[in-house]
Amino acid sequence: MAKYVKEVLIRREEIDLMCKRLGDQISSDYADREVILIGVLKGAYVFMADLARNLTIPCRIDFISVSSYGSGTRSSGIVRITKDLDSDITGKHIIIVEDIVDSGLTLNHLRQLLGTRKPASIAVCTAFDKPDRRKVNVKVEYVGMQIPDEFIVGYGLDFDGKYRNLPDVSILGDDNQGGAK
Ligand code: IMP
Ligand code: MG
Repeated sequence: MAKYVKEVLIRREEIDLMCKRLGDQISSDYADREVILIGVLKGAYVFMADLARNLTIPCRIDFISVSSYGSGTRSSGIVRITKDLDSDITGKHIIIVEDIVDSGLTLNHLRQLLGTRKPASIAVCTAFDKPDRRKVNVKVEYVGMQIPDEFIVGYGLDFDGKYRNLPDVSILGDDNQGGAK
């Protein structure tokens, strides 16, 4: 599997520390409140599990799945819900959990969309952030790590549906660019 990745960017041990820090911060900020963590599928599934286990406050979890309208690989920022929440978030404190914020278009739309359901509050927690790629100014309350403008895989993040299971975060190797299996 190693030949499909160029180099390890963030090791599992660093990710553990990152999740602990975010968990402590959120637990302290929401000390007297109940939250619903909303994981954005599929990328957030690994991070969501780690983050949730680092919270010391009561929380519920839910998932949403969205796909972006647009031509080819370009994100238009208009998202279509392909799997909606199971829960009613009206009057609840919600935290949207993302794997990575890139252009910010998807998240921006998701924030607006969930906002129409009148939750008591909305925050976003992302594992990784590529600030250099941002096209729209979207609020992200909790950021695990900022990373350079590289395409990363592992820890839930995929290339063509693969490598989500890698425990570390790695930079995608050049072998993949032509669609290597
Ligand atoms: P955007 O912020 O609307 O551009 O889209 C963010 C989404 O693009 C993320 O939730 C990921 O699914 C995907 N994405 C962005 N950058 C990467 C990356 O480096 N590796 C894997 N997926 C990525
Ligand atoms: Mg995603």
